[in-house]
Amino acid sequence: MKLCFATNNLHKLEEIQALLGTHFELVTLKDIGCDVDIPEPYNTIAENSKGKAEYVWDNFGISCFADDTGLVVDALNGEPGVKSARYAGPQRDAGDNIALLLKNLAGLPDPAARFITVITLVVNGYYHQFDGSVEGTIIFEKRGSNGFGYDPVFLPEGHDRTFAEMTLAEKSSLSHRARAFAKLVDFLKTSQDLQ
Ligand code: IMP
Repeated sequence: MKLCFATNNLHKLEEIQALLGTHFELVTLKDIGCDVDIPEPYNTIAENSKGKAEYVWDNFGISCFADDTGLVVDALNGEPGVKSARYAGPQRDAGDNIALLLKNLAGLPDPAARFITVITLVVNGYYHQFDGSVEGTIIFEKRGSNGFGYDPVFLPEGHDRTFAEMTLAEKSSLSHRARAFAKLVDFLKTSQDLQ
């Protein structure tokens, strides 16, 4: 079965394709001729994830899944949240985003945070959502050089190293994204309608 992963990140696509095996043929947005930056106008991660999958289904009629992720900080009323990629501006710069996050958190009592990923799958017009999250704390000095985004300041609960100090395999054993994708893969492999 052909399924679009609403991304142009080939690395992400290969990882999920390997988990799914040959029964599903994953294609990117570019592969289906979708070359627009799909708008993400909503106030929640779940709605933005659905919006991307819906765009592909409505405009291309291809079954599809889309993921959306945000860092949610309680003391900042849930920010950066849906604004995670562009928190400090349209340049989408991770260093700028971290600097703004630490500035806004300075002096506040509790730096509790979590990453949340929501995946929306649309198959033949029917929608399904899968989520994954990881609890943690924001620390005030950057540590580590692996990963991306907010990884150098995110200390997952129960660990003494930031995501950026972990190998990809370690991060993937507990990350928000890995947890959400595990649910998607399980659904795709076991759903009778898709066999
Ligand atoms: P996306 O929805 O996967 O594009 O993620 C949106 C933004 O959230 C990214 O641009 C990053 O700033 C942040 N983000 C997402 N996943 C991670 C992660 O695993 N580590 C650190 N930051 C992340």
